Formats: sequence, structure tokens, C-alpha cells
Amino acid sequence: METETKTQTAAKEVTDRDLSEQIKKVTKEAHVRAENTELMLSFQRGQVTLPQYKLLLCSLYEIYKTLEEEMDNNSDHPSVAPIYFPAELARLESIEKDLQYFFGQGWREKVVVPAATKRYCHRLRQIGKENPEYLVAHAYTRYLGDLSGGQILGRIAQKSMGLKSSEGLSFFSFPGVSSPNLFKQLYRGRMNSVELTEEERNGVLEEAVRAFELNIQVFDDLQKMLTITENKLQDSLTHLKPVNAKMLQIPGTIINTSSPLLRMVLGLFVALATVSVGIYAL
Ligand code: HEM
Repeated sequence: METETKTQTAAKEVTDRDLSEQIKKVTKEAHVRAENTELMLSFQRGQVTLPQYKLLLCSLYEIYKTLEEEMDNNSDHPSVAPIYFPAELARLESIEKDLQYFFGQGWREKVVVPAATKRYCHRLRQIGKENPEYLVAHAYTRYLGDLSGGQILGRIAQKSMGLKSSEGLSFFSFPGVSSPNLFKQLYRGRMNSVELTEEERNGVLEEAVRAFELNIQVFDDLQKMLTITENKLQDSLTHLKPVNAKMLQIPGTIINTSSPLLRMVLGLFVALATVSVGIYAL
């Protein structure tokens, strides 16, 4: 009995030392915060809009471009080599395909990213040069996330945006991974095989929390960008109102807006115009 308890404790100790377990534990709280950002809640409620998704894709493009370039540059580094799976995981090409689908041929000129995305990329560049072992934390945060909740989000996105096929959703599909669960097991095993000093291990764990934080900031910034655009459009439409609020002037005519029916029709017109201009602007 005592031996059994000892064995169990020893087994638990081994598990507790696993980087994959430690990283999951330290990022648990940040994961909940990421799930509860306005953008991720829109996904979960099945309410993600085309402008939201297109803006997110632009940021994902910059993030994966930088992450994958840094992973490629450091593919021989002893901490990076075991978790380097470009054939199975690389996202850049699939994001480019999706951007082309949504923005058309000239998509490269249309990519807009908020300041938070630039900060995220700056950090990736910095650790690529100074602490390549921290790339483990960033690769874990993005790729294992994409292979986990990301799979559900893909199906939701398709429904929410009324897309008939999976066109525009290559980002969510991993043709080189036949079983995400088995692949995650393999990936965790590889993470656990990375040899790190105590100091490096602590650094990787801290970096994982930071990686989640950087993602949260990107989501918040994207949402702010969308809100500002919507408010600006609302403002410009409001300022189109004539001095006499009850009178709307259309060239050649003056319409009295005090009629409730007319006000309702005008309200609908303004709402439709807002949505159309918003979609066009993206
Ligand atoms: C709507 C938002 C999200 C939902 C519903 C969601 C859901 C999930 C689920 C169900 C899992 C599997 C948990 C398990 O196997 O124990 C998971 C794992 C994971 N998620 Fe998320 N997630 C979301 C957002 C995010 C974001 C924004 C990130 C990072 C940027 C992220 C990173 C991860 C990671 C790294 C894992 C792997 C955990 C591990 O096994 O160590 N998730 N997520």
C-alpha cells in the first residue's frame, strides 16, 4: 500500500515536471480571459461578423508570418527542433489563401493591423534573436490552441458568416494532421523532451503567459478598431442631419421627418447604409 502511494506520488512528480503540464497550468487563468474577450465571445455566440473575421485574419497573417519565419530561422536550435512541424502546422499559406478569398487579388495592400499586433510581432522577432527557447511558448499558445478550441471556432465561423463551403476557412484546416488529439499528444511529448535549465524553464512559462496576454491585447485592439469605425460612420451619418432636425433635405425635395412611419423607414435606411458602408470599408 505504502509502495503504491509512493509510486503514485513519484508518477505525479514526474508529470508535474512535464513542461506540457506546467504550461497548461500557468496559462489556465489567461486562457479563461482570452475566451472571454469580446471577439472570442462573438465566436462562441455564433455572432462573428465578416468585418470582425477579416480584421482578425489580417492580424493572424502578421503573427504567423513572424512566428513561422522565426521558427524557420531557429529550426536547428535544440529547444525548437523537437517542436518544429512546418509540414503539419504552418498556417501562413492557408491564411494567405483566405485573405485572397475575402479581399481579392490586391489583398496585400488591404491588410490592416492594430498596434497590439505589431507589439506581438516585435516580441516574436526579439525572442527569435535573443531567446529562441521561448518560441516553444509561442508555438504552444498558437498551434495547440488552433488544434483545440480552434476546431470548434472554424465550424462556428462558417455558420455565422453564412459561408456555403469551407472556402475562406483554410486557416482552421490541418490537412497534415489526421487526428488533432493524437497530434497534440505527440506535440506534448516533444515539448517535454526539450532540455531546459531551471531558469530557462521559468522563462518559457512566463513567456507562455505573455503570449496569451499578447493575443488578448490583439483581440481587444481589433474590437476597438471595429467600434471606432462603426462610431465614425454613425457620426458622419448623424451629421448629415439638417439643422432643422425634423426636416430631411434630399436634392429637389424636403421631407418632414416628424411622421412616425417615415422616421421608421429612415431609421431602417440609415441602419442599412451603416452596415453596407462598414462592410465596404473593410
Ligand atoms: C472562443 C475561444 C476559445 C475556446 C472556446 C477554447 C477552447 C479550448 C478547448 C476546449 C481546449 C481543449 C482543452 C483540453 O484539451 O483540456 C483548448 C485548449 C487550448 N487553447 Fe483554447 N479556446 C479558446 C481560445 C483560445 C485562445 C484565444 C488561445 C490562445 C491564443 C487558446 C489556446 C489554447 C491552448 C494553447 C490550448 C491547449 C491546452 C493544453 O492542452 O495544454 N485558446 N481551448
